[in-house]
Amino acid sequence: MSNKTLAIIKPDAVKKNVIGQIVTKITEAGFKINGIKQVRMSKASAEAFYEVHKERPFYNELVEFMTSGPVVPIALERENAVAEYRKLIGATDPAQADEGTIRKLFAANKAENAVHGSDSDENALIEIGHFFSKSELI
Ligand code: CMP
Repeated sequence: MSNKTLAIIKPDAVKKNVIGQIVTKITEAGFKINGIKQVRMSKASAEAFYEVHKERPFYNELVEFMTSGPVVPIALERENAVAEYRKLIGATDPAQADEGTIRKLFAANKAENAVHGSDSDENALIEIGHFFSKSELI
């Protein structure tokens, strides 16, 4: 059975011009792209997306970072998508990420960490809905 997950190529990786390299790693890992776009998140959009982190000390920094430049949300599908994609991107802190993972290759630190990944099947559907309308998805 195939599942969904949401990837976001974050502003640091877009600025580094590595969208293509990241998308290639994702598709080579067997994910199907159901939707992809480049957008500049508004403050309200970023605040809503990271609502679960509202009480965290890094919340304001996170919202500021995610609105600092364009991002590339990608709706993905694959068997066991959430876990497989998280394996592909590596740990939140690139210093702790395994060799060959997207964060090890492209992330600078815990805050500017190149990519986002959903943490559950349920949140994946909510997060995909945050960025994509039905007509923008396969
Ligand atoms: P992500 O897992 O995509 O979603 C939550 C984000 O919060 C995480 O990526 C990081 O970008 C950010 N984050 C987590 N911990 C910290 C931290 N200690 N300082 C700054 N940002 C953080």
